[in-house]
Amino acid sequence: MTTDKKKKNTNDQWYHPSRDVIEKAIIKDYEKHYQKSIKDREGYWAEEASKLDWFEKWDTVLDSSKKPFYKWFVGGKINIIQNAIDRHLKNWRRNKLALIWEGEPGDLRTFSYHALNREVSKFGNVLKSMGVQKGDIVTIYMPQIPELAIAMLACAKIGAAHSVVYGGFSVEALAERIEDADSRVLITADGGWRRGKITDLKSIANEAMKRSPTIEVCITVKRTGQDVYMENDRDFWYHDLMTLPIASAKCETEVMDAEDILFILYTSGTTGRPKGVVHTHGGYTVYTSTTHRYVFDITDEDRWWCAADPGWITGHSYIVYGPLINGATILMYEGAPNHPYPNRWWLMIEKYGVTILYTSPTAIRGLMRFGEAWPNRHDLSSLRLLGSVGEPINPEAWRWYYRVIGKEKCPIMDTWWQTETGGFMITPLPVTPLKPGSATRPFFGNEVAVVDDKGKEVKRGEEGKLVIKTPWPGMARTIHKDPERFQEIYWKDYEKQGWYKAGDSARIDEDGYIWIIGRIDDVIKVSGYRLGTAEIESALVSHPLVSEAAAIALPHELKGNAIHAFVILKAGKSGDKQLGEELKEHVSHELGPIARPEEIIFSDALPKTRSGKIMRRVLKARALGQDEGDLTTLEE
Ligand code: WT7
Repeated sequence: MTTDKKKKNTNDQWYHPSRDVIEKAIIKDYEKHYQKSIKDREGYWAEEASKLDWFEKWDTVLDSSKKPFYKWFVGGKINIIQNAIDRHLKNWRRNKLALIWEGEPGDLRTFSYHALNREVSKFGNVLKSMGVQKGDIVTIYMPQIPELAIAMLACAKIGAAHSVVYGGFSVEALAERIEDADSRVLITADGGWRRGKITDLKSIANEAMKRSPTIEVCITVKRTGQDVYMENDRDFWYHDLMTLPIASAKCETEVMDAEDILFILYTSGTTGRPKGVVHTHGGYTVYTSTTHRYVFDITDEDRWWCAADPGWITGHSYIVYGPLINGATILMYEGAPNHPYPNRWWLMIEKYGVTILYTSPTAIRGLMRFGEAWPNRHDLSSLRLLGSVGEPINPEAWRWYYRVIGKEKCPIMDTWWQTETGGFMITPLPVTPLKPGSATRPFFGNEVAVVDDKGKEVKRGEEGKLVIKTPWPGMARTIHKDPERFQEIYWKDYEKQGWYKAGDSARIDEDGYIWIIGRIDDVIKVSGYRLGTAEIESALVSHPLVSEAAAIALPHELKGNAIHAFVILKAGKSGDKQLGEELKEHVSHELGPIARPEEIIFSDALPKTRSGKIMRRVLKARALGQDEGDLTTLEE
């Protein structure tokens, strides 16, 4: 059981793993393993990579000759699908459930590895018949239904890259991403269910296709059955195509170079348009499976539930790829956690015997709000581990999660990572003693530091910038069509040292535990979702009455942060409550409901530097009544 030992000079409370957890742990001695892994990083990763299926072994583990464009497992031939599906068909796992899916209205579908392979193979052939070739980028815009995973896996199988656009995004976000990827094929659905209502994905897709005309083929899954507009020669129903003779269940898994693109995933950056982060077959396969297995002690008995959306990196790495490579049984759920009642998740854990729940602090805070009676009505005893991701978890939410959901026997894996890192970077293992709110220690092979602008390590306990000093197999290879930006954003600040700048501030305490504080750039984390201030501002400015806008994040009890937008109207216009609402609605329509500002503040001027850059830091300090800091660059 846990011991609540108070440590001197800290307000941190330790939580130690139980004997049960330690006995089950694959890795019992983190420190020993870690030291070994950083002494011989390439040896460590070569050993982990050898546990996977390769068509041909690599010649070189790591090629650093074109830093920061690292290459891993050079010369190796692999396909992530060979590892995530094909190899499981050769043993008893072919009969194992790969996927249990529950729709919000309560419908249930299950797929064994055998069945999943059939669907993926059939759809792979459908895509080929639509002219999709190795190297093409297929855009996927779907609700959380099995076909979303099937579409991703089918692309990977035939050697096409996928670009999944989160189903909560809207017209402009989708159009921009389709265009940047030059996608010819779009896969979508007529809608999905969320809080008992239908989300209108196809109409949004139709509008986006008007704005970005590269799409020649749009395949639509029938989910809700609502009427949607389908255009002759462009639009096809998924279920129609899947019954045609072209949809044969015999489909070869394409042999890929380790460094061939598996997917691009757009994420918000500091400036301008979203960045298409590139991940590849070899390194990503190794990194997601290794991190998933060790951080969550995955065994064949597990029922794994990552309650994120596959449209984000969390879903790519830890709903779809990592768990399937590890041969796990995945649970996927379409809808809202509190629909029809706030016990939906707890009921599902009981019903499916979930052993590991991995979710976000926002979700925990949201469910916490409904009180303990809801989870207490259910048998949650199947749970053995919990996980958290997306933003720092406040100790209060941590303790609630630990006590009420985990019954004080499930350690919480607070995993810090990013779209760009592909998988967990800083994380406990089940055997790690925990402190609520700390992501604890680096994963194997990774060396991290907290430094100042010059790259000097700050003192223990002091805040600084988080850097990763060493390469890892799951790292992003580049930004699609923009290698300069890749260098500029992540590698330029510490070019001399060759370190990766995470964009987060952090501190390391006297025990060597890492505490993530938050973003230091113009990225806003709302409910764990990543948005760029630039995206929100350009959506606002696209409204005919707006001349200038600045978006900042202010603390919010449930969402972690909320968006507050300062708006300057065009000459002669004045703002009122109604216009404020209209602008909120406008942002929501352009980008999606997650980007909807909490508050619109009309103002006459914005604080700017002499070079014309908006000083969001000053706006934020003013809003919080804090010291505005160094104002020497402020234009009067
Ligand atoms: C940013 C990356 C990677 C999965 C989801 C987010 C924040 C992520 C944690 C954590 C504190 C966290 C960081 C990071 N973040 N996990 N455990 N503790 N902060 O991926 O959308 O690329 O966002 O999320 O600020 O930089 P993402």
